[in-house]
Amino acid sequence: MPLVNSKEMFKKAYEGGYAIGAFNVNNMEIVQGITEAAKEQKAPLILQVSAGARKYANHTYLIKLVEAAIIETDLPIVLHLDHGDSFELCKSCIDGGFTSVMIDGSHLSFEDNIALTKKVVDYAHPRNVTVEGELGRLAGVEDEVNVSAADASYTRPEEVEEFVKRTGVDSLAIAIGTSHGAFKFKGEAKLRFDILEEVGKRLPGFPIVLHGASSVVPEYVELINKYGGSMAGAKGVPEDMLRKAASMAVCKINIDSDLRLAMTAKIRESLSLEPGNFDPRKYLAPARGAIKEIVEHKIVEVLGCNGKA
Ligand code: G3H
Ligand code: 13P
Ligand code: ZN
Repeated sequence: MPLVNSKEMFKKAYEGGYAIGAFNVNNMEIVQGITEAAKEQKAPLILQVSAGARKYANHTYLIKLVEAAIIETDLPIVLHLDHGDSFELCKSCIDGGFTSVMIDGSHLSFEDNIALTKKVVDYAHPRNVTVEGELGRLAGVEDEVNVSAADASYTRPEEVEEFVKRTGVDSLAIAIGTSHGAFKFKGEAKLRFDILEEVGKRLPGFPIVLHGASSVVPEYVELINKYGGSMAGAKGVPEDMLRKAASMAVCKINIDSDLRLAMTAKIRESLSLEPGNFDPRKYLAPARGAIKEIVEHKIVEVLGCNGKA
């Protein structure tokens, strides 16, 4: 099966009330852990590459790793650019074989965001590549902002119809209170489901994307702390909230930090328990295993996309 774009995948996910996992990839072990889990669970998959990942691992290596995963799994897989910040980066990924791109103009004015997003859509669509846009900015947990300033970063539902219509995007990332990284909430986790509901009403049948959706699995945070790390206060999005979002208009849930935590925890554990080991395979194999385990858990217990490939 060749790489696919997200069109059909999102249509089925929307109608079925589940979400597709979009997992960030940076190297071979991460690609293998994710795709082995998806294969066992017969789950459709989005593998996403950030600008940083592309710089670290090299475009060609990443493409070839994902092509290998397709041969090994025979799953429908989307290769997606995560947080593209310019037309040139999106164009380079489209020309280089990606089947989906995100153009993140969320830091721009509404009009500039529309203009940049439309430019990417106009280039992508004739090449059968789908495009994700973003409206609203994810909150940063460290920001000591007052409520009205915080409110300003949430997506404004009254803007979404015009944005989607004028840009032609295929999916839309919105800000409802999640944030990137492992420190998402200081106190109780709160998401603005009222915004998601209103966006869903205004865009019936249209796929919504949730960024910053790691749940920061306590088991791995504890392991990191036990073996010399320091992640006190790490906190993510509770899984029941993610399940709720997946049953609503959210069709794509972005997860990176949980994979980083799983991998780091297992490497720390392995090196601590076997201080004399200097064979990378001996600490990377358990790290890959932990990624597989966490991705399977997400697919079955959070996203509900098992058996949907
Ligand atoms: O949203 C950001 C992703 O977690 C990717 O992070 O830019 O460090 O690769 P990165
Ligand atoms: P997390 O940091 O919560 O894993 O979010 C990842 C993400 O949104 C990638 O775009
Ligand atoms: Zn993101």
